[in-house]
Amino acid sequence: VAARFGAGPLAGKRVLLTAGPTREFLDPVRFISNPSTGKMGMALAHAARSLGAEVTVVLGPVGTVERGGLDIVDVVSADDMAREVLARVGNADAFIATAAVSDWRPETRAPQKVKKGAAGTPEALTLVRTPDVLAEASRKVAAQAKRPVLVGFAAETERVLEHARDKLERKGLDAIVANDVTAPGAGFGTDTNQVTVLTRAGAQRELQGSKHEVARAILEFLLVSAPSRAN
Ligand code: CTP
Ligand code: CA
Repeated sequence: VAARFGAGPLAGKRVLLTAGPTREFLDPVRFISNPSTGKMGMALAHAARSLGAEVTVVLGPVGTVERGGLDIVDVVSADDMAREVLARVGNADAFIATAAVSDWRPETRAPQKVKKGAAGTPEALTLVRTPDVLAEASRKVAAQAKRPVLVGFAAETERVLEHARDKLERKGLDAIVANDVTAPGAGFGTDTNQVTVLTRAGAQRELQGSKHEVARAILEFLLVSAPSRAN
C-alpha cells in the first residue's frame, strides 16, 4: 500500500488528464482525426503517479501505452471525452488537458459504410464543432469553493506565445503549456519536446528534453514548487 499510494509531493492528490487524439466518424469505417500519439500526456500521467498522485487519464485512441499504476478511461470521440471528463473534474485537484481533440466532427454519421460512386455519395462533408472539453470543464468548476488547478496545452505553428496566452485567458486556466509543433524535436509523435509554460500570474518557464523530463519539470513547476491555482 505504501508503494501504491504512499510517498511523494503529490501524495493524496487526484490528477485528471486527457491525452491522445479523438476520432470523429462519418461512417463505420472512416473518421477525422490527427497525428497525436498521447506520448506527452502519458508522460505527464506517469510523472504525476511517480510523484505520488492518484492519476486518471481519459485517453483517446492510441497505440500500446504503459498503463501500469494509472486509472485509464478509454474514449473515442470528443463527445465521449467531454462526458467522461465532466463526470470527474469536480473531484480533481488538478486537470491537465493534453489531448488533441478534433475541433470538428461530421454533422451526420452514416449507419452503413458509404459506397463510392453510389447515388448519395457526399460531394462535401458538413462539419460541426465538437465540445471544447477544457473550456467546459473550466466552466463547470469555476464556482467550486475548491476547484482544481487547470492546465491546458496549446499546439501552435505561429505566434506561439500570443496564441497560448489568449487560450489561457479565454478558457479560464491557471497555466498553459505552449508547444510550437513545428520546432525541431517537438510536437506530434516525437520522444522529445520543447515548451514554454505560461501561468496566469505571469510567470514564464522554458523547458526542453525528453517528454519524460519535460513532464516531470512541468509538474514540479506548476503543482509542486508553487501550486498555481489562481484563486
Ligand atoms: N481542447 C479541448 N477540447 C477541444 C479543443 C481543445 O479540451 N475541443 C484543449 C486541448 O486539450 C488543449 C487546449 O484545449 O489543452 C488547447 O487546444 P488547441 O487545439 O491548441 O486550441 P483550440 O482552443 O482548439 O484552438 P485552435 O485549435 O483553433 O488553435
Ligand atoms: Ca484545436
